[in-house]
Amino acid sequence: MKAVVIQSFGSADGLAVIDIPAPVPGPGQVTIAAEAIGVGGVDAMIRRGTLAGYGIEEGHIPGSEVAGAVTAVGEGVDASWIGKHVWAFTGRGGGYVEQALAPVEEILPLPADMSAADAVTLGSSGMVAHFALAHAHFVPGEAVLIRGAAGSIGIMAVQLAARGGARAVAVTTSSAERGARLRALGATHVLDRSGDGADAPTGYDVIIDIISGPDMPAFFDKLAPNGRMVAVGAVAGFPPADFGAAMLASFVKSLSFATFSADTVAPSARRAVQLDQWAAAGSGDLRAVVHESLPLEKAALAHRKMDDGEVFGRIVLVP
Ligand SMILES: NC(=O)c1ccc[n+]([C@@H]2O[C@H](COP(=O)([O-])OP(=O)(O)OC[C@H]3O[C@@H](n4cnc5c(N)ncnc54)[C@H](OP(=O)(O)O)[C@@H]3O)[C@@H](O)[C@H]2O)c1
Repeated sequence: MKAVVIQSFGSADGLAVIDIPAPVPGPGQVTIAAEAIGVGGVDAMIRRGTLAGYGIEEGHIPGSEVAGAVTAVGEGVDASWIGKHVWAFTGRGGGYVEQALAPVEEILPLPADMSAADAVTLGSSGMVAHFALAHAHFVPGEAVLIRGAAGSIGIMAVQLAARGGARAVAVTTSSAERGARLRALGATHVLDRSGDGADAPTGYDVIIDIISGPDMPAFFDKLAPNGRMVAVGAVAGFPPADFGAAMLASFVKSLSFATFSADTVAPSARRAVQLDQWAAAGSGDLRAVVHESLPLEKAALAHRKMDDGEVFGRIVLVP
């Protein structure tokens, strides 16, 4: 079967399409004939080599979520899964393939009205956005800033904060056109990447930071007293080593900083939130924003588009 592999870390040119044997599911696993594969910001970070220190090596197959039909089950898995359309989390990799493996506890049946492309767009992004807001102890009436709102996690965080009764949902983004699209999803204030903009709220109760990087400490100044910043991603790399000093400089504001990783959420809790969100998508309360669908073989093009900042929402690969 076809698979896309990172032959060398760095630019998207390091991605190659290769042939590998079709997988055989092990105990507790299922095989899924992928109809849609999500391209996440984390895939681009992995391809660049940013996470090489976390045990990810060249030769890695990126991609962490697919949707399609179950074609085989391993030992201990109920054979009635075969033929069902599911969404699956494949882990830190293994998704850019025609047939993917996933543990049975990481698959979820698709509602009849949900496309495979929408499933891999809402899939983990919506769940991460939900738990990030919960981790920030967000409550209705609060002012929220989503830093890096135009990606798949940010788009979901904007929609969830707006639906959750935020007083303000400010977003950072790089263009007025993207800002207009974010307003249509529930943003109330559109700011540039440094967090400046006309009528910007003066203090946020919650900042969901998908970007991190060198500019992160400056965002502590934008928190209101008792404000909470939750770092969800590191699209611009890690923050400066002394970033905590910026928080301590505002000691009297009783600020909080936390990281959030979905790895700390039990699969059953993740599934419950995903099912709720998929029902909301079915009734039109949440929107999956698919930027573009491309053939699996065009994974390098998809990554170039991610690197060039062209993508609003999620690129989906189709085998
Ligand atoms: N916490 C978890 O459990 C979890 C799970 C999955 C992924 N992640 C993390 O989430 C991140 C990816 O999220 P995503 O796919 O939603 O994001 P993304 O699509 O990679 O990026 C989101 C947006 O950030 C903006 N951006 C890009 N570079 C920037 C820079 N240098 N400075 C400021 N803004 C910049 C761009 O929008 P504009 O051009 O409009 O500014 C881009 O559309 C990764 O770091 C990944 O590791 C976390």
